[in-house]
Amino acid sequence: MMMTVVPAGLNETKDRLIIIDQTLLPNEEKWLELDKAEDIWEAIKKLRVRGAPAIGIAAAFGLYVCSLKSQATSVREFRKEFEEIRDYLATSRPTAVNLFWALDRMTERFEKEENKTLDEIKEALLDESEKILREDQAMCKAIGEYGLSLLEPKMGLLTHCNAGGLATSGYGTALAPMYLGHQKGYDFKVFADETRPLLQGSRLTAYELSKAGIDITVICDNMASQVMKEGKIDAVLVGCDRVAANGDTANKIGTSGVAILAKEYGIPMYILGPTSTIDLNTPRGTDIVIELRDEDEIGNSFGRRTAPKGVKAYNPAFDVTDAEYITAIITDKGIVRPPYTENLKKLFDKNIH
Ligand code: MRU
Repeated sequence: MMMTVVPAGLNETKDRLIIIDQTLLPNEEKWLELDKAEDIWEAIKKLRVRGAPAIGIAAAFGLYVCSLKSQATSVREFRKEFEEIRDYLATSRPTAVNLFWALDRMTERFEKEENKTLDEIKEALLDESEKILREDQAMCKAIGEYGLSLLEPKMGLLTHCNAGGLATSGYGTALAPMYLGHQKGYDFKVFADETRPLLQGSRLTAYELSKAGIDITVICDNMASQVMKEGKIDAVLVGCDRVAANGDTANKIGTSGVAILAKEYGIPMYILGPTSTIDLNTPRGTDIVIELRDEDEIGNSFGRRTAPKGVKAYNPAFDVTDAEYITAIITDKGIVRPPYTENLKKLFDKNIH
C-alpha cells in the first residue's frame, strides 16, 4: 500500500483548495479548505502544505480558486488580478523552484487562452492545475522505477526530511523506490533522519512509511555517521527543492552533511526529483536563494522553550549539496550521472525543450 493521501487538491465543487495540515501530523489528520489568497500563502509559508512538488500543486490550485472569485468583467482586468495573486503567492517561499515553475505554467496557459471568454479562461486554469497534479503523479512513479533499478532487496536506506506522498501527489520522489520495492517484497530497512528543526523525517516520513507497512526506524540527525559506520546504510535517497544546472542541489537543511558523510563511508548518495525541480536557469548552487526561517523554530520548538529566551538562533531551511558529493540524480526522464552540467543539459534537450 502506498501513501494514498494527495496533500493538495480541490474539494468536490472545485472551488476550494484542500490540504492536509502537515504541521499537525502525526497526531492529527485535519483537512483545511482554503479559497483566500492570504490563507493559501500562509499555508505554504507555515508548511501546512510543504515539499517542493506539493507547494507547486497547491499554488496552481490556489491561483485557480482565487481567480474564481474575481468580479472582473474584461480579460484585461481579470489578467491584472490573476497576476497580482500569482506574484503574491510567489513570495511565500523562495527556494523550491516548483512553486515558480507551477505559477509560470498557469501564466503560460492563461496567455494561450487570452482571446477566449472569462469562463473559458477559468476552465483552462482548472485544466492546467489538474494537469500539473496528474503529471506529478506520473513523474513520481517513473522516478520510483528508475530509483528501484539501482537498489537491491534487503538494503538499508537512509533518507532525510520528507520526500514522500505528503510532499508530492503520488509516491513521492525519494520514497517512491521504497514504495515500489515494498510492493515487490524488497524488504528494505529504511532509516529516517528526524530532521530538525521541524521534524519532517520523524513526523511525516515515519508516518507515511509506517502506514504503508515499510520497516522504518527514526534516528536523530546527529546519529547518521554512527549508523553508516555500523554498516546499516547501503544507499542514501533524498529529494530536492532546486537542482542547479551544474548539479548542485538545494534540499532540506542537513542534506549536505549527510552527503559528505556518505562519500566518506563510500555509500551512494542519490538525489531524486522530477524535472520540474531542475532549474537550468540557475547556474550554480551559490545562486540558489536559501530560505531563512523564524528563530523560534529552534529556540521555542513546537511551543516550548528549547533554548533560553533571548538567545539568538540561525535557521536556514535548506542547504546546498555540492555536485561532487552526488552519485546520481534520478529524474522522471532517467538517471543522470556526472558531469552534471553536460548531462542535465542533454536530458533537457532530449525530453523537455
Ligand atoms: O521545508 P520543506 O518541508 O518544504 O522541505 C522539503 C524538502 O526539503 C524535501 O526534501 C523536498 O522538497 C523534496 S519533496 C519531494
